[in-house]
Amino acid sequence: MNKPNIYITRKIPEHLIKPFKEDFNFRMWDEETIPIPKDVLYEEAKQADGLLCLLTEKIDKEFLDHASHLKIIANMAVGYDNIDVAYAKEKQVIVTNTPDVLTETTADLTFALLMATARRIVEAADCIRENKWGDWSPFMLAGSDIHHKKIGIVGMGRIGKAVAKRAKGFNMNVLYHNRSRKYKIESELGIAFQSFEELLTESDFVVSLLPLSDETTNKFNRSAFQKMKSTGIFINVSRGGVVDEAALYEALVNNEIKAAGLDVFQNEPINSTHPLVSLKNVVALPHIGSASVSTRENMITLCLENIDYVFAGKGPKTPVT
Ligand code: GLV
Repeated sequence: MNKPNIYITRKIPEHLIKPFKEDFNFRMWDEETIPIPKDVLYEEAKQADGLLCLLTEKIDKEFLDHASHLKIIANMAVGYDNIDVAYAKEKQVIVTNTPDVLTETTADLTFALLMATARRIVEAADCIRENKWGDWSPFMLAGSDIHHKKIGIVGMGRIGKAVAKRAKGFNMNVLYHNRSRKYKIESELGIAFQSFEELLTESDFVVSLLPLSDETTNKFNRSAFQKMKSTGIFINVSRGGVVDEAALYEALVNNEIKAAGLDVFQNEPINSTHPLVSLKNVVALPHIGSASVSTRENMITLCLENIDYVFAGKGPKTPVT
């Protein structure tokens, strides 16, 4: 029997692919940092029975109509807004993502970004690098407290819960908003459900962990930022599309909110010319939520296991439903 052809859209380490080589023919885009051009992806996908792709690949109707042999798309991310999942289902293509393996790592980064933003860590480190440390003074680089403050988590999924646990460790008062209430997590962690509006009004830190969908696009808009405290700090570690970036910029420039920590942007990658990056009270990161070496390896392995399970007739380990 012919081995299934699997195409991998970015260079990944050989030792991760090795255990699967007996069962599959792998081909791979041989660049680590440069995304695969659309024409190459389309050409390669023609022969592929399975695809391991990143969130940088747009898996839309056009692609799915083109890649007619595909049985599985294993997306190396927990979010899957880059894929037209409904159309894939119509075409009987299985879509998988990488939940669980990245939860704790992403929660760590969320908290690191929250702390860096509140305590102005990047500005402080730059102060030394740029030889600007004069004498010690009472309010030099004074930021906002984290302990005993209110954090409002929008999106209480796995990562939301892991962030809530960390916040509890800092004696924070934890509020959350989610499409459905999570009674078990409420009683387990001692956190309180709030309407979106109440959460915005009451929180010292508003943390977005919302997946991107039609419903959540631009959820954090002008009216949302206007409801926040003027001392409030906004953190986004989910998808840039949930934020109206022009409205966020206005809110920051007009001191309607105090600061923002952003790991994601509407059109990635961005650079220093992005208006939000020009603001001192913004900490901007290049979408590194799950970026620890071991978590990234685990994500790749989970993608390969999903592919392996599907071709072995066992069904996917972590299907997108
Ligand atoms: C990263 O953003 C992911 O969805 O895993």
